[in-house]
Amino acid sequence: MLFHNIALIQAVIVACTVGDSYAQSTSTFQWPNAQLSYADLQLYEGDLSIFTDGCPMRGDSSTIPAQWLRLAYHDMSTHSVDDGTGGLDSSIQYELDMPQNIGEGMALSLNDFLSIGIVGPILGLADVMAMGVVFAVVGCGGPIIPYRAGRIDASTAGPGSVPQPQEDLATQTEKFKQMGFNATEMIMLVACGHTLGGVRQVDFPLIVTDVEDAFQNFDTTPQAYDNTIVSQFLQNTTQDVLSIGPNVTTRSDFRIFSSDGNVTMQSLLDPDTYIQTCGALLERMIDTVPSDMTLTEAISEPFDYLISDPSTVINPTEGATLTMFWVDREGSFCPSTGCSVESSGTEEVSFTTLANIQGFTAERYMFNTTINTTTSISKFWFEINNSGSDPITVDNGGGGFVIDQDSLFLDMRRSQTIIGSFPEFLRLVVAVRGDATSTASMTIFNPKGNATAPPFIPVITVIDLVLDEANPPDGNVTTMGNATTVTGFVDFSATSGGTTYTLP
Ligand code: HEM
Ligand SMILES: *[C@@H]1O[C@H](CO)[C@@H](O)[C@H](O)[C@H]1NC(C)=O
Ligand SMILES: *[C@@H]1O[C@H](CO)[C@@H](O)[C@H](O)[C@H]1NC(C)=O
Ligand SMILES: *[C@@H]1O[C@H](CO)[C@@H](O)[C@H](O)[C@H]1NC(C)=O
Ligand SMILES: *[C@@H]1O[C@H](CO)[C@@H](O)[C@H](O)[C@H]1NC(C)=O
Ligand SMILES: *[C@@H]1O[C@H](CO)[C@@H](O)[C@H](O)[C@H]1NC(C)=O
Ligand SMILES: *[C@@H]1O[C@H](CO)[C@@H](O)[C@H](O)[C@H]1NC(C)=O
Ligand SMILES: *[C@@H]1O[C@H](CO)[C@@H](O)[C@H](O)[C@H]1NC(C)=O
Ligand SMILES: *[C@@H]1O[C@H](CO)[C@@H](O)[C@H](O)[C@H]1NC(C)=O
Ligand SMILES: *[C@@H]1O[C@H](CO)[C@@H](O)[C@H](O)[C@H]1NC(C)=O
Ligand SMILES: *[C@@H]1O[C@H](CO)[C@@H](O)[C@H](O)[C@H]1NC(C)=O
Repeated sequence: MLFHNIALIQAVIVACTVGDSYAQSTSTFQWPNAQLSYADLQLYEGDLSIFTDGCPMRGDSSTIPAQWLRLAYHDMSTHSVDDGTGGLDSSIQYELDMPQNIGEGMALSLNDFLSIGIVGPILGLADVMAMGVVFAVVGCGGPIIPYRAGRIDASTAGPGSVPQPQEDLATQTEKFKQMGFNATEMIMLVACGHTLGGVRQVDFPLIVTDVEDAFQNFDTTPQAYDNTIVSQFLQNTTQDVLSIGPNVTTRSDFRIFSSDGNVTMQSLLDPDTYIQTCGALLERMIDTVPSDMTLTEAISEPFDYLISDPSTVINPTEGATLTMFWVDREGSFCPSTGCSVESSGTEEVSFTTLANIQGFTAERYMFNTTINTTTSISKFWFEINNSGSDPITVDNGGGGFVIDQDSLFLDMRRSQTIIGSFPEFLRLVVAVRGDATSTASMTIFNPKGNATAPPFIPVITVIDLVLDEANPPDGNVTTMGNATTVTGFVDFSATSGGTTYTLP
């Protein structure tokens, strides 16, 4: 957040252009909150949607979004409402040898999530799988599902409770009830899942018996998140092998869809009802977690006034002037060393599809100023000057953006970083307020270790940093570093004068 002698702070202005009027986000974001900042960043500026935009095929059979949706559903299926265990907790990693979890999409999807550099100490695999459902559905034209973070990754397999096609209706109904979905919701959830993708012959040879067709899509629009699965079922034109397959035992979709005399399926014939129903049920699906987990508030649009390290999201009109103000360590405003700076430049934020379809655009404002390391900053805030209207003060709900510690910071000016969603350091320099007896270390989080197949278990390495000979102490600030390339999530810790500081 605070850089040696220089503060580089970026501010992002989010403008909502829906209906030509500017909308204010409903939630007021309170800085700092690493979890919400990071979740917001991944939803609106992250790389997950590269996999899902346009609902792309994987190979010549299924689509990536279909595989991501099925993976998350199977992971969630281990939930038990009776004892509060299981749910979307990434236990699927340990369950892939169970017959109900067969299918090449499972391991491929897990690898997608772990290779893109989003899974880390802030959002674990289960949180990213849940976010994957948001992108999968929207990528195929489906509803926008509000996102919550906070899932904790399991370290062992859950029960093998995923419903299977050959089971009878009573068994399946009881299993969905255990997951928290009643008989009506079971019909809906299956209809909301089997709109994408289909069944592979190699994995289900007794279901897909047509040798011409190694993969049978559930409906004629496998790349559209729409209710064709419903309308074709009711018109008796469905191609869903789980409805009309030659083996009556595995006509699971037929039994479920018609279990209430087609009443629920009839209600889903209206496209808006289908989209709304599926949005709400899939939200519940990804939020089905063990009862000892607490999820964050829902994020359904980019935050106003968000500072993620080191950027801010604020929400005025375009072309505004931004001024940053700060007070020093002693709490005095405007010492001789200065107290305000105007933004030094702007750039347009490249938003994900999610923000684009919601009609948001954004501008990032950069700040660059010299801060005296002795007097430093204790808090800062912004003023937005829109021509023709009163200035708006952005002060984090009143208290300002308070810097909780300035004894340990990453010296971005001297570090060499490749900034992406997966941070890569060519050279690391941290600054510690203290003398040469201070110590510092970094903790590197590698989300998949050296495993090439599931289960992928994170590997955490701690490396001590050494005194940086290239950068002599400046006042009371010592620099330490390591010039080896580091790829992954890095946290820092330092001990100075008997106190330990951490920097996530
Ligand atoms: C009784 C309930 C269910 C049964 C028996 C069932 C069964 C199946 C089977 C056998 C496949 C083929 C998998 C493959 O060949 O790889 C499949 C695919 C799929 N299922 Fe289900 N399913 C059920 C419920 C659900 C639910 C509730 C969802 C999501 C909300 C869902 C989402 C999917 C998706 C998206 C695919 C396509 C995967 C792909 O194309 O790779 N299913 N299902
Ligand atoms: C399932 O729950 C919904 C409300 O969430 C209710 O409207 C519906 O009647 C219930 N269905 C059954 C079969 O209990
Ligand atoms: C539905 O279609 C199947 C096969 O195409 C046919 O055998 C059956 O009679 C049809 N049922 C109705 C009610 O039209
Ligand atoms: C139909 O499916 C069931 C369950 O998978 C299987 O036991 C049975 O052998 C199948 N019947 C035929 C004729 O393939
Ligand atoms: C439900 O719809 C299916 C498919 O069109 C049909 O075969 C079945 O007879 C219907 N069931 C009832 C009770 O209407
Ligand atoms: C910030 O300002 C300093 C001093 O004016 C300059 O050397 C540096 O290049 C600037 N950095 C950025 C990122 O603009
Ligand atoms: C930083 O502030 C301290 C205390 O006010 C002052 O003694 C020192 O000269 C300042 N350093 C610079 C480079 O301005
Ligand atoms: C805000 O804008 C007005 C008019 O454009 C200008 O007079 C004023 O000095 C500006 N204030 C700041 C803090 O930039
Ligand atoms: C992978 O990592 C584990 C634990 O870090 C280690 O024990 C194992 O030897 C490594 N395997 C390979 C092939 O490097
Ligand atoms: C630098 O980092 C590497 C791993 O990235 C580590 O092996 C090495 O010990 C570190 N060197 C120093 C001097 O901290
Ligand atoms: C700088 O360090 C000296 C000696 O360690 C200490 O007496 C002094 O208070 C420190 N100054 C600041 C501003 O932290």
